[in-house]
Amino acid sequence: MNKTIENIVALCKRRGFIFQSSSIYGGFAAIYDYGPLGIELKNQISQLWWKEMTQFHDNIVGLDSGILMHPKIWEASGHVGAFNDPLIDCKKCKARYREDEFDLNEKKQDWNKVKCPNCGSIGSLTEPRQFNLMFKTHTGPVEETGTEAYLRPETAQGIYVNYLLVQGAMRLKVPFGIAQIGKAFRNEIIARNFIFRTREFEQMEMQYFVKPGTDSSVFEEWKIKRLNFYHDVLKVNKDKIRFHQHPDDELAHYAKEACDIEYEFPFGWSEVEGIHNRTDFDLSQHEKFSGKKMSYFDQPNNERFLPYIIETSAGLNRMLLTVLADAYWEDKENDRIVLKLNPKIAPIKAAICPLTKKDGLPEKARKILSILKPKFKVVYDQQGSIGKRYYRQDEAGTPFGITIDHQTLEDNTITVRHRDTQKQDRISTDRLFDLMNESL
Ligand code: GAP
Repeated sequence: MNKTIENIVALCKRRGFIFQSSSIYGGFAAIYDYGPLGIELKNQISQLWWKEMTQFHDNIVGLDSGILMHPKIWEASGHVGAFNDPLIDCKKCKARYREDEFDLNEKKQDWNKVKCPNCGSIGSLTEPRQFNLMFKTHTGPVEETGTEAYLRPETAQGIYVNYLLVQGAMRLKVPFGIAQIGKAFRNEIIARNFIFRTREFEQMEMQYFVKPGTDSSVFEEWKIKRLNFYHDVLKVNKDKIRFHQHPDDELAHYAKEACDIEYEFPFGWSEVEGIHNRTDFDLSQHEKFSGKKMSYFDQPNNERFLPYIIETSAGLNRMLLTVLADAYWEDKENDRIVLKLNPKIAPIKAAICPLTKKDGLPEKARKILSILKPKFKVVYDQQGSIGKRYYRQDEAGTPFGITIDHQTLEDNTITVRHRDTQKQDRISTDRLFDLMNESL
């Protein structure tokens, strides 16, 4: 099968999932725009995540904090000092690399003995230079010292600095969690692999506040819960999803334990989500930098402590790429491309297709559309032959094609065509709502 990233990119453009940003100006690197189907799919995924976190857990609540925050937050969090990527340039061909793109053997050698992966020359690579990934901006009308601010590189800090306000307002007791979905920004050196690594992206993060000493077992629990989300909710192919536990020398500056959930993309196994044991690193840093007490008061036991934090941090865009890559299927036998998306996240649930544009079929089709519309995202499609319409919807991942023909006018039955098998059933229009309700 030709499941290449290029083919996925082409499908995304053709069907209105994802476009290169600013394309009429030649594009803007590492930023993407989400088209009509892309935003529907993104919304479906984020809603499932939100439901999983805040609805299925009584002790997890939501938050929406600002993208811009007090700049001291980023000093306290360590991002000003330590959020760096070592950058390597090729002086000959001008290619640019992150240090982690080279294997361990290469990293151990002198850089002037390592071959440039692009032009093949030896002796042209620079020593790694530290490069801070945060975007800087200014608040207020003049750019001067003291007005500098950062676009947040992770949503987590907005949760940490608000955690006592949330806890007090909602009368939460440890252990409890705060979930947030929002944009994050990183000035990535290398932007490759479509929406996998971009400079503007969305994170879905949940910070779980626990009593120190319970942190390692809670960390293990969240690893399993998060893996199950990919298996049971998104329904991603189980062989293509795995854990990658970080060895000590790979840990981020804030983490005591870390485990990635990786997916096997067409470009190889790569991280989609990270589960981190951040200990009390962030809260103690904020206590130090703000001068405010960040400890939690455990009333029944009459004790005060800084909670440890177990974080689950997923990229919404990477999760979307995961489900797209997983669903992409070239059905050679029938000469079609299909997105075998879990119907629950399909951007369009059904296409309502009158067989012809006359004889009252469009009117009947619109009537069926109006019955389904309040509950399901459905579209009306009368352009082109019925075969072409089905194939167009297959590429969009639409699970059902509903055809209205002359028989519909006689006995109120319609044809339901199933995306993956192309099997067609004739059922009464009255059963359609229930059929869709059962599968979606
Ligand atoms: N708060 C912890 C944190 O931000 P991270 O491992 O740096 O941890 C978490 O990022 C997740 O955010 C990643 O697993 C990935 O899904 C997503 N992510 C990170 N950088 C990204 C980028 N440049 N483009 C798209 N997604 C990104």
